[in-house]
Amino acid sequence: MLHAIGFDQVYERAQGAYLYDRDGNSYADFLAGFGVFGVGRNHPVVRAALHEVLDGELADLVQFDTPLLPGLLAEQLLAKAPGLDRVYFCNSGTEAVEAALKFARYATGRPRIIYCDHAFHGLTAGSLSVNGAAEFRQGFDPLLPDARIPFGSLDALQAELRKGGVAALIVEPIQGKGVQVAPPGYLAGARKLLHDHGALLICDEVQTGLGRTGRFFAYQHDDVEPDMVTVAKALSGGFVPVGATLAKDWIFGKVYSSMDRVLVHDSTFGANAMAMAAGLASLAVIEDEQLVSSAERTGGALQAALAELVDEYEMLAGVRGRGLMIALEFSKPRSLKLRAGWNMLQAARRGLFAQMVVGMLFRRHRVLTQVAGDYMEVIKLLPPLTIGDTEVALFLDAFADVMDDAHQGGGLMWDFGRTLVKQAVSRPAASGPGRG
Ligand SMILES: Cc1ncc(COP(=O)(O)O)c(C=O)c1O
Repeated sequence: MLHAIGFDQVYERAQGAYLYDRDGNSYADFLAGFGVFGVGRNHPVVRAALHEVLDGELADLVQFDTPLLPGLLAEQLLAKAPGLDRVYFCNSGTEAVEAALKFARYATGRPRIIYCDHAFHGLTAGSLSVNGAAEFRQGFDPLLPDARIPFGSLDALQAELRKGGVAALIVEPIQGKGVQVAPPGYLAGARKLLHDHGALLICDEVQTGLGRTGRFFAYQHDDVEPDMVTVAKALSGGFVPVGATLAKDWIFGKVYSSMDRVLVHDSTFGANAMAMAAGLASLAVIEDEQLVSSAERTGGALQAALAELVDEYEMLAGVRGRGLMIALEFSKPRSLKLRAGWNMLQAARRGLFAQMVVGMLFRRHRVLTQVAGDYMEVIKLLPPLTIGDTEVALFLDAFADVMDDAHQGGGLMWDFGRTLVKQAVSRPAASGPGRG
């Protein structure tokens, strides 16, 4: 797959928003390891914290003790999430989601979790049960009892709640797949409906959290207080696997209600010192470098400049997103001249035009991006929050060049398109699945 899309590249080192190959060429990283490198790659403050942990010979993972670092990190996270009181630490986004699903079921005593079309919450069995894309689920049935609804529809939520037995709705405030932004008021409306029916709101902030969208948590664009929030990816600056489930005190109180139940949900490596120190350092960087407001400002400027290109390029249908989580959507050209190429790609597989743009951004300009999901003509920009005017200009130049070429029927670009078609037809798996 990597070879087919031209991504079979070895990198030697990385710094901030750039990767470097062995010849010293730099690559602008608008993918950030699926959003892990919010503070940029190899941030010196996080590195220094990790060195200190190693050199400090800490008494880590004693298991029956009261370690300081998880307490401190929990305190810092909760300070950013008014209304939430407790934190469970684990090792990844999907584990944070698993915890939220289990907590919701136990705390409410109900089995059903509602989730949205196109949702992505991870790929372990519980998280997969709330995955809104058939290509990930296929062949893994039976999963947990599920109830899928359209993203953004309060009517559908209400209808599902009326059927009873619902523990929670889990939702990404901005869906990673396709970068769909929740309509204004949706999360607040959902919370009210859920609470009216004794169910909980879980906001999955694994991708959107920690400043990515121009708020510390993306749900904070809406006036809403979720019952649980999941966090991972950027929390450790990309150095140590980490995840966290933030919740209200009463939920923890129910789950861990007695001496017998203190280990009822746990993970051996969760709350390890490396992850916790990296988390504390990353939060300090986010604060010190004002990355939340910077993401809002830089992302806003990049989106505005990209939106201006919609009138210029007929295959660019729209730009959406928030902060530095941005989608560029392509659509069928009006002019006959361009339709032949577009149709050739579509006939082989939907999403190949976007893949072609991703490939050309990379081959020609060494800009790393991704398609925003399987079978969609959308690319996603998820750069480190540390980018500034230089990277915005770099991306705009590269993108305009690739779009110029696509619209002029540029030979090299469509040749690459034909290579993708051959791959898609002969080895369909080589084109996906898009991670979202
Ligand atoms: C919203 C969301 N939730 C959960 C996950 C799963 O995280 P992980 O890959 O760390 O298990 C992802 C990963 O992309 C995600 O975007």
